[in-house]
Amino acid sequence: MTEFSLVLALIAIIVLIAPLTIWSFLNRRSKMRKLEHLYNESRQRSYHGSKPWPIKTVAMDTVIPGLTRDEFGVRTAHPITIHGGYVRGGISALETTLLATLASSSERIFEFGTCTGLTTHNLAQNSPDSAKIVTVTLHPDELESTEKDSNDDPGAHEESLSESRFTQFVYEDSPVAHKVEQIFSDSKLLDIEKYRGTMDVVFVDGAHTYSYLKNDTEKALAMLKPGGLLLWHDYRGKSTCPDVFSFINNLSKTLPIHLIEGTTLACHRKEA
Ligand SMILES: C[S@@+](CC[C@H](N)C(=O)[O-])C[C@H]1O[C@@H](n2cnc3c(N)ncnc32)[C@H](O)[C@@H]1O
Repeated sequence: MTEFSLVLALIAIIVLIAPLTIWSFLNRRSKMRKLEHLYNESRQRSYHGSKPWPIKTVAMDTVIPGLTRDEFGVRTAHPITIHGGYVRGGISALETTLLATLASSSERIFEFGTCTGLTTHNLAQNSPDSAKIVTVTLHPDELESTEKDSNDDPGAHEESLSESRFTQFVYEDSPVAHKVEQIFSDSKLLDIEKYRGTMDVVFVDGAHTYSYLKNDTEKALAMLKPGGLLLWHDYRGKSTCPDVFSFINNLSKTLPIHLIEGTTLACHRKEA
């Protein structure tokens, strides 16, 4: 074979092989995307029957710059410290990472529903020294003060009462306890005037009944600063937390709300 025909043969191989390699790469990537889509849809269907969820899912870094997630987990722009463990009423490790990252650039945070105080502790230990975390919870002696509306899910009402048994909290003996303002109150009786327009972040995770979600959300929106972020926990579909699901879905008709990927956190950013 001459040198010329060798070069020709080589060019022919490249011309044939290169498109084949590119085609096979694109084909594999598109198959992986389809599989990922099917996986996400089947997860949603297991909560919500055959219809897709009404609110759109967004990537973490569109809500919290510097927080990225891929198949190998999450990466935070700044180091965070997590107090972990599964506790009553608690949130997932990914949700904790997200809230802790948010806390690192937040001066004022309000939490509806303290429970054990684990999330409160994570917010306090990751926020700046000058930060303040205000958290409200129902005292076990005040269960009678709660008002259940006729449309509230009875299961969610019972659960909110059974979670209201804590009077001591995880953060209390920690070096960041001074950042926390603990309030014991039924959230419907809570006067929020002194917090109006001051909060960078409000986390709604108190009673999971429709009438309380409505009350807590109205108060949250009033307490947020322009540009502040509102997060609701437990947007899990209609069979698991029905009132959270229907409340958020209804509200999303008039307010921009998104679900943060990989979490049960629905979010709304107040206009700046
Ligand atoms: C799901 S737990 C909160 C979990 C906590 N945010 C965490 O991440 O660990 C719900 C909390 O809401 C509180 N809660 C229930 N009903 C309430 C009400 N009517 N007013 C204020 N807090 C209430 C419960 O006492 C409980 O502490």
